[in-house]
Amino acid sequence: MSRLTVTPETTPGVPELRTEDPAVIAAALAAVGVRFERWELPVSVSPDSDSDSILAAFRPHLDRLMGESGAGTADVIRLRPGNEAYPAMRKKFIDEHTHTEDEVRFFVSGGGNFILHMNGRVYDAHCSQGDLISVPAGTKHWFDAGEAPNCTVLRVFTDTTGWTPYYTGDPISALFPAA
Ligand SMILES: [Fe+2]
Repeated sequence: MSRLTVTPETTPGVPELRTEDPAVIAAALAAVGVRFERWELPVSVSPDSDSDSILAAFRPHLDRLMGESGAGTADVIRLRPGNEAYPAMRKKFIDEHTHTEDEVRFFVSGGGNFILHMNGRVYDAHCSQGDLISVPAGTKHWFDAGEAPNCTVLRVFTDTTGWTPYYTGDPISALFPAA
């Protein structure tokens, strides 16, 4: 189930909006320039399909997205419980940062929270299977998939050098754990 929680940055734990309605989530995020869509899952795809099969299954969606955004590449990442590299990865994701390109992610399975800090508010988007989110370049945000993640995610890149975070140094993410 997808979920959006919007909280003023001055009142952690006291949200002004909490919804699980995908249309309301999309509208609230669109109002601040963030793209959120639900994509239908091809019947043929499983979270454990190989990356090429997953990319092929979503090709029509990806072609549309890349045509609009100018993005050039896509890949598939999997986070599974017990991944020894994950605690170090989580530390990189969970501090507030920005990117110089849009951060575009589609959840083939599982879920995780993209938490955006904009307009004096914290927008915590818990994304789940079938959700696309595009965090605009320059948006302050962080990501958390919890202590034991289990997700398969499509990543779409404009910049071929990969995922580069620019940390803001703001400790705000500690005040707003994933909701
Ligand atoms: Fe990011």
